[in-house]
Amino acid sequence: MTSNEIRSKFLEFFKEKGHKIIPSASLIPENDPSVLFTTAGMQQFKLYYTNPELAKRDFGVNNVATVQKCVRTGDIEEVGDNNHLTFFEMLGNFSFGGYGRKDAIEYAHEFITKEMGLKISYVTIFKGSQNIRRDDESEKIWQSLGVTNIREEGMEDLFWGPTGDSGPCGLTTEIYCKNASDEDVEIWNIVFNEYFSDGSREKLDKGEAKLTKLPVMGVDTGMGLERLVSVVQNKKSVYDTDLFDNEETKEKRIIVDHTRAITFMISDGVRPSNKGSGYVLRRLMRTVASYKNIDIEKLVEIIIEKLRKQYFELNKEWVVLEFKNERAAYEQAYNHTEAEISKHQGFTGYQAFNISSTLGTRISDIIEIAKKKGTVLSDKFKDEFEEASKKHQELSRTSSAGMFKGGLVDSGEESKKLHTATHLLNQALRIVLGEHVVQKGSNINAERLRFDFVHPRKLSEEEKDEVERIVNQKIDEGLPVGFVEMPRIEAEKIATHSFNEKYGDVVKVYSIGDETKGYFSREFCGGPHVSNTKELADNPNGAPKRFKIQKEEAVSAGVRRIKAILV
Ligand code: GLY
Repeated sequence: MTSNEIRSKFLEFFKEKGHKIIPSASLIPENDPSVLFTTAGMQQFKLYYTNPELAKRDFGVNNVATVQKCVRTGDIEEVGDNNHLTFFEMLGNFSFGGYGRKDAIEYAHEFITKEMGLKISYVTIFKGSQNIRRDDESEKIWQSLGVTNIREEGMEDLFWGPTGDSGPCGLTTEIYCKNASDEDVEIWNIVFNEYFSDGSREKLDKGEAKLTKLPVMGVDTGMGLERLVSVVQNKKSVYDTDLFDNEETKEKRIIVDHTRAITFMISDGVRPSNKGSGYVLRRLMRTVASYKNIDIEKLVEIIIEKLRKQYFELNKEWVVLEFKNERAAYEQAYNHTEAEISKHQGFTGYQAFNISSTLGTRISDIIEIAKKKGTVLSDKFKDEFEEASKKHQELSRTSSAGMFKGGLVDSGEESKKLHTATHLLNQALRIVLGEHVVQKGSNINAERLRFDFVHPRKLSEEEKDEVERIVNQKIDEGLPVGFVEMPRIEAEKIATHSFNEKYGDVVKVYSIGDETKGYFSREFCGGPHVSNTKELADNPNGAPKRFKIQKEEAVSAGVRRIKAILV
């Protein structure tokens, strides 16, 4: 069976079981600044676990399945062994109140043993913890299917999530199969999303986050395609499958893994930079760049050729161009670093920090260069480096705090106006198109707003005109804008909220309008906003500004994007 066949079989199998097939979301999570990359199939569905009624409305059913592109860098040190990758495809089936443990386990069992013809080596079940009882139910279901090799594990291995700052999470049961090296490979993780955590996983583990029961049982499964293929094709490693070209050495495996990640990230719009996802991309690119003799163009071409049918967004030109720029920047920084280090006799951590912060060279590269040149590091090199780095962080915090009070006000004000315009737009769309319009994402800068929302088709000229008219009318009415904080449960009754957002128990609700004039819009939102809609029309140098839709287009199936300005 080829990897393409396995992908299709998975989707067909779940389609037959009443699941709607949904396309992979982007690698850059929409509207969730607390995570850098999409790391799991469930991420694009986070909101449906807390609001299962929306699933029925948006998909017509409670059950969906996807092949999701994912990036995980947590295990980056292990890339190059038989089973670890930074970029991988994840097969997943998800249910938002549609089914529970029994169906989820039976589907997985049927797919693995019948469709894939594999023997299950063993499965795992949750052994219980202080607050959560042992998963006897899953154990019984496995036994009823004839699986008797059942192992027990605890929170660390068998409690999944949440992703980001908060979200759905729960117990898991996993399936292991043997590969050709006789290794037991974890191939499928079946999560029962029964809880909502109001804090990150880290906080949860420290006892600083609270778990509450979700309204209905959710199912969230994740099966790494590459691992499944390695087992089905009876290979010793994921790198020996038809998704790769039999990369044998650790070095070659790292190069091809990282280049796959780089290719997908750049194609989804990430660019190398010194922070966030751009920094992760830069690190991967620099690792690949440090292997000097690779024909990157050829490698990207081979990678894209294998996956272009599944991922039409892959863009060779962008990837190669970015890679060339990064390689040149890296070489230049490396040479400068060598020259700078040569200037020092005793080489201290302070000096190293100066080089690192001015040239952007990694500390590991600086140490490597210094060692190669025989430069002697000072005794307290590490401490010195850390001290300098801490001082720098404090300094930049206080200087940026000052900037906010003085400068920058202008661009901040413009973004604030467009942010308020986004709320007006959201409500106007709901009035003109219907209540199914739900925010999927938004991005605002001083020049324009961008707003993604659920709607099945293109807007007509009349619809766009009507939306503009309503927004401008609300600007002219000079409606007050303000917020209150209230329990999420209460807020959900009166206010709209966007997709993929993470919400705590207490949320801020921004409203436009008031009790006397009536509320035009009420949304979950962190702010900031202007205090009156008439500020959106402010134009010291001319006629009052108007709200104008510049562009309306599709971003994915069932999701539209509007770009709009105040002119
Ligand atoms: N969300 C399930 C997994 O990533 O394994």
